[in-house]
Amino acid sequence: MSSDQRLGVNLGERSYPVVIGSGLLQRLPQVDGIAGLLRGRRVFVATDETVGGLHGAALGEGLAEAGAKTIGRHAMAPGEAHKHLGSLAGYWDALLTAGVERGDLLVAFGGGVVGDVAGFAAATCLRGIDVLQVPTTLLAMVDSSVGGKTGIDHERGKNLIGAFHQPAGVVADLELLGTLSRRELLSGAAEMIKAAILGDPALFDLLEQAGSALLDDPTALAGAVQRAVALKARVVEGDERESGQRALLNLGHTAGHAVEVCAGYGNITHGEAVAMGIGFAAALSERLGRCPGGVARRVANLLEKFGYPLRGRGLPAEKVWEALRHDKKTRGGVPKWVLIRDIGEAEWGVEVPDEVVADLLSEVLV
Ligand code: GLY
Repeated sequence: MSSDQRLGVNLGERSYPVVIGSGLLQRLPQVDGIAGLLRGRRVFVATDETVGGLHGAALGEGLAEAGAKTIGRHAMAPGEAHKHLGSLAGYWDALLTAGVERGDLLVAFGGGVVGDVAGFAAATCLRGIDVLQVPTTLLAMVDSSVGGKTGIDHERGKNLIGAFHQPAGVVADLELLGTLSRRELLSGAAEMIKAAILGDPALFDLLEQAGSALLDDPTALAGAVQRAVALKARVVEGDERESGQRALLNLGHTAGHAVEVCAGYGNITHGEAVAMGIGFAAALSERLGRCPGGVARRVANLLEKFGYPLRGRGLPAEKVWEALRHDKKTRGGVPKWVLIRDIGEAEWGVEVPDEVVADLLSEVLV
């Protein structure tokens, strides 16, 4: 019996399946909900040079076995530094050169950057074609491949140009994680911890018990990824275009993003920054009396158990504070915080007095 995990993101006519399991690429014709998207379909594979080199052949074979006809492929240069208009235009050019038509399917095969840039190419080419997200990093599996956010960075900030374009399906093959470094895996695990705090206390317990050993157990990992994606699906179903509660998914990203900017991209992983941000949000929630005493310690213990650094030592608090005020989640120069009410419950859009944030920044974050 297959130990695949599956769930649906229910958005009316934009609903889609998410399938999580090991070795899915090798058995695409048998994967319920995905096989039907591929059979007899013309597909275009959008990837990056690293993922294409490591796993492109396996994907190509899987697609052929599932009865899809690959009409073209394009690999962008890898990494956040290439999440720009030039890479997007590279996908557009390759799609049009391949003779893409409205009924074709773009397969976005890579981590969060490929998912976002290729997803945006799918959203815009011929005014929109279907996209199948095939994430290859844990971060993309538990967060960015689900929910339909696509886009590119601009010199004024990350993800400032983009569109909501829900995928037709998501295939998360855990076997692809085998080529990731431990640090990259941990970067994704921070988003699982975030999901647990936002709405799944049982997942939090599981992560507490297993610690980072969970990343080495494919069955347990598939279950945890499924739970994290289920939480995300619930939030997105309630607020697809982030006019309200979807902002919950920014837990840890307010302070985390500021630390990431100040440390310099590449010097710290997104997950390390988010972990610091989650620890900070927990401390802030407790300082403000918005959660029971002891929650911040419990969160910090879990983050430590996974081996995340809890402080961005050496970063000047004033610089982090400036970066906070320039974050795009800031409205009118005032950061809006996601705070923790308890393990499994959070609130969004909270304004916190400057002096409380500033004091806590130097006490617990930098
Ligand atoms: N990664 C946050 C969101 O999808 O809304």
